[in-house]
Amino acid sequence: MLVSGSEILLKAHKEGYGVGAFNFVNFEMLNAIFNAANEAQSPIIVQASEGAIKYMGIDMAVGLVKILSARYPHIPVALNLDHGTSFESCKKAIDSGFTSVMIDASHHCFEENVAITKEVVEYAHSKGVSVEAELGRLMGIEDNISVSEQDAVLVNPDEAEEFVKQTQVDCLAPAIGTSHGAFKFKGEPKLDFARLQEVKRRTNIPLVLHGASAIPEYVRESFLSTGGDLKGSKGVPFEFLQEAVKGGINKVNTDTDLRIAFMAEVRRVANADPTQFDLRKFFTPGMEAMQKVIVERMKILGSAQKI
Ligand code: G3H
Ligand code: 13P
Ligand code: ZN
Repeated sequence: MLVSGSEILLKAHKEGYGVGAFNFVNFEMLNAIFNAANEAQSPIIVQASEGAIKYMGIDMAVGLVKILSARYPHIPVALNLDHGTSFESCKKAIDSGFTSVMIDASHHCFEENVAITKEVVEYAHSKGVSVEAELGRLMGIEDNISVSEQDAVLVNPDEAEEFVKQTQVDCLAPAIGTSHGAFKFKGEPKLDFARLQEVKRRTNIPLVLHGASAIPEYVRESFLSTGGDLKGSKGVPFEFLQEAVKGGINKVNTDTDLRIAFMAEVRRVANADPTQFDLRKFFTPGMEAMQKVIVERMKILGSAQKI
């Protein structure tokens, strides 16, 4: 059943587990996410970026989610706009049927971030839609970074408390050292868990981890073994994801892992039979590989069997 983001996240916040927020750009990715949720009996957040919406068309993005949620009526699902860049973009998503929006004004100064987020919250709440915002910048913590440099980049707990008070946002993405994509850490993986715990204590709302792909060894290996190149790639280790959930993360944004797992299988089929051109022969193993990664993630985050 399609529900608001808050309905899924407040339960996770109360019971102390994380829900995967998985990106999709087409039917195949979305189908794999729903199949995984059904296999693991887990709630899900599915999300489309502005780029994904441009690729699919907003009517297609919403339509696909509505069709699949009707196929699996027992699965609580929220449809989130990932990294909305303006009030207009969030309004368009809300008016089209999204049940959650992220307004990402984190690159603006604090006051402007508050002002833009407040405007989105007011409109979204009048339509029963929940809102996510972000504080700090998403980038890896370098080994030799000083405390003051770290303070300049990562979320400030004082600001987080004030931000939530002023905006009444439903959930918050605090920058604690992750980044998007396959190359998250130059040295050893490092996240600022103390900062996360402080933000949770001060805000007491569901928190979001962006850039949460783990790139497990078997996923990396599947891509490399088909001739793919992921040199220098590093994800967030599973133990870190679990520690993040313990520290108050309830929404765990995951895209890169799904892309790599899916595309490794496409590459495998293409390599094995250069004469093959039936799309289904490529996409079926792609969806199966994605489903396996997602089911495993649901178990790690604690959302499996939470329906
Ligand atoms: O956070 C970014 C997501 O992985 C979506 O990426 O803008 O390439 O669709 P995208
Ligand atoms: P990854 O690139 O780690 O999958 O992060 C995705 C994300 O944060 C989407 O908002
Ligand atoms: Zn993100």
